Amino acid sequence: MNDKLKKQIIEALKDQKEIFGDDLFEENILNRRTKIVAEKKEKYSVEPELFAEEKEEWEKAGSLEKLESLIKDCTACKLCEGRNKFVFGSGNPNADVMCVGEGPGAEEDKQGLPFVGRAGQLLTDILKAIKFERDEVYIANIVKCRPPGNRTPLPDEMDTCLPYLRKQYELIQPKLILCLGLTAAKGLLKSRESLTSMRGKIYEFEDAKVMVTYHPAALLRNPNWKRPCWEDLKKFKQLYDDLVK
Ligand code: URA
Ligand code: SF4
Repeated sequence: MNDKLKKQIIEALKDQKEIFGDDLFEENILNRRTKIVAEKKEKYSVEPELFAEEKEEWEKAGSLEKLESLIKDCTACKLCEGRNKFVFGSGNPNADVMCVGEGPGAEEDKQGLPFVGRAGQLLTDILKAIKFERDEVYIANIVKCRPPGNRTPLPDEMDTCLPYLRKQYELIQPKLILCLGLTAAKGLLKSRESLTSMRGKIYEFEDAKVMVTYHPAALLRNPNWKRPCWEDLKKFKQLYDDLVK
């Protein structure tokens, strides 16, 4: 996307946010994008994706390392301001399973790696329980920079950062995605459902099947959720066995 278009979108979104607040914000991003795509199609009679020259360098990256090197100094949203380290993601570049969290916490921001704090240790244990080693899967977040005070990332921050996760997905091509918590599920699936209604269902992101469960940090706060989380994970493992094994 070129800078002029980006500016236009940002201005339009600011106007809409001003009028409608956050509620309609996500929807309007989508509407605006749909409109831009439709306009381009009409004007040029081709899919906008075919405009190679419109692609930014990072969109053309052929490896995760290359992608990381091209986006690590990103300043596309204001989360860059409080960042100590950019947290790209880590794990197996050929993973069948991708775990998606919300965003870096204090420890992640310090180390530049996802899920290395207490919640991260629990994630490692959760994965072990369904017979996955941590380095067998790929772990990333919806936003790559730590939100101040660990607040939930805002819809516009998630939307700004999501193309990077999508590109990671395209390079890795996992068959399954496990969303950790409602924020990750909302960010990835653009869903407005509650966590309760999403648990146990199978969703899709591009060609991958997606399931949603509790965020490990939520399990630390409320150990009563460990049992239902285990139920989710058994279903996820079954889906993995059906699709991959
Ligand atoms: N919580 C997340 O959502 N992601 C991390 O990387 C760490 C904690
Ligand atoms: Fe860029 Fe994502 Fe960091 Fe925002 S959170 S500055 S979009 S890398």
